[in-house]
Amino acid sequence: MSHAAVPLVRRFSGTERLLHWTHTAGFLAMLGTGLLLYVPAFSDVLGGRPTAKAAHLGASIAWLVAMALVVLLGDRRGLRVTLQEIDRFDQDDRDWLRRRGTPPARFNAGQKLHTVVQAGFAALFVASGTLLWLSERVNGLRLQGTIVVHDAAMFGAVALLLGHLWLALVWPPTRHAMRGIVRGTVRASWAARHHPRWRAASAESPRARRTVPRSAWLASVLILVVGGTATAYVVDDSLGDRAGEEVSIAPPAAPQPASAAAAAAPPVEAEQVVPPPDPGADPLQLAAEAQQLQQDGRLNAAIERYRIALRGLPGRPDVRAAYGIALVDAGNEDEGFAQLRRATRHTPRYEDARLALGLELLEAGRAAEGRAQLRRYLRSAAPGPGADVARAALERDAR
Ligand code: HEM
Ligand code: HEM
Repeated sequence: MSHAAVPLVRRFSGTERLLHWTHTAGFLAMLGTGLLLYVPAFSDVLGGRPTAKAAHLGASIAWLVAMALVVLLGDRRGLRVTLQEIDRFDQDDRDWLRRRGTPPARFNAGQKLHTVVQAGFAALFVASGTLLWLSERVNGLRLQGTIVVHDAAMFGAVALLLGHLWLALVWPPTRHAMRGIVRGTVRASWAARHHPRWRAASAESPRARRTVPRSAWLASVLILVVGGTATAYVVDDSLGDRAGEEVSIAPPAAPQPASAAAAAAPPVEAEQVVPPPDPGADPLQLAAEAQQLQQDGRLNAAIERYRIALRGLPGRPDVRAAYGIALVDAGNEDEGFAQLRRATRHTPRYEDARLALGLELLEAGRAAEGRAQLRRYLRSAAPGPGADVARAALERDAR
């Protein structure tokens, strides 16, 4: 039989296919950039965590905008009809699930449940992702469970996707469905076998009419790629001063000596002339000042500033870790190690705190605890200066 003679029926409209593939592209972009954040060994792939995070947020915004555009500009009435078909869950569907052999209509019960669960996951991603983003800006929203929900949604959605891919690409009886989701039409005989109660509106020629012009497909891809990249750059810029991994996010402000005489005084006296911190100052500015003071060895003044800064930045493990180091170095080991440990328990993970904890423990002569922390750090650390330092410290300690 020549190809042209095979009767075809329309299974998915252009809008439906565009929606499916826009969602797939967005999902894969979010999954890829999300994994850069999740797997420590990948954290340097885009040049660092802040860039990966900006790319992740860029992909999510582009995905939301592209999906909204497809729905708004596409065949909304058709989508509504499809939604109603998916929404209708009757005795036939229950029988199908119990393998009673009830012939499915346009979608079988498995497909309906799959659609509903994936839509649920999408809502969960948006809700937990938005909370994660907001939690960096609004202290009260810093819920430790949010990242767990976000990660669990990823594992759930990926598991579903693997099953979906197996049916679409591997399992011979269902593989023909690919033609429907790519080109819109399927063989009428396949439709009759798999979805017999689905009365295809019309049998069409193999050169089935496109309902979405080629330019719309192209526009969608362009929006995803250009919009995602542009948003990533904008977000990266605005993240730059708040979400950097180091304390030196704000320009380090060297404290001004009170007088020329004080400027000439030796460092020990200089500690006394550091003006008291302004409790109303921007916490990031205070943290930067504290870091500068810590580097200059003025530990008490640094500790005072870190303490106040952390009240406004409770979610910053890097600031907490620096505070812990200052405390340990100033001789307050109990509180210092407690702060460092607290920084290691942070979500999202901040592994530099574990490196600092391990090194400080070794230095304080608590070798067993220090070695354990460094080994734990090395288990997930990406190759780089941090891992080198940890390895060198372990070797030195072994000698
Ligand atoms: C509207 C959608 C989404 C938004 C707004 C969003 C937002 C975020 C934010 C703000 C973070 C935290 C980054 C950080 O501070 O480390 C994050 C992390 C992450 N996201 Fe998303 N996300 C979305 C969708 C997704 C999707 C669809 C996936 C995967 C399929 C995903 C996977 C991840 C992963 C794996 C992490 C890293 C979590 C960790 O470090 O444990 N996200 N996301
Ligand atoms: C996160 C990514 C994806 C999601 C959430 C998703 C979701 C869906 C949903 C809800 C449907 C309609 C109902 C159903 O068949 O279950 C569907 C249909 C379909 N999808 Fe996907 N999909 C994704 C990615 C993919 C990929 C990567 C492929 C193939 C390489 C694919 C192939 C198909 C096929 C062939 C159909 C048509 C099934 C039919 O004729 O009834 N999907 N998809």
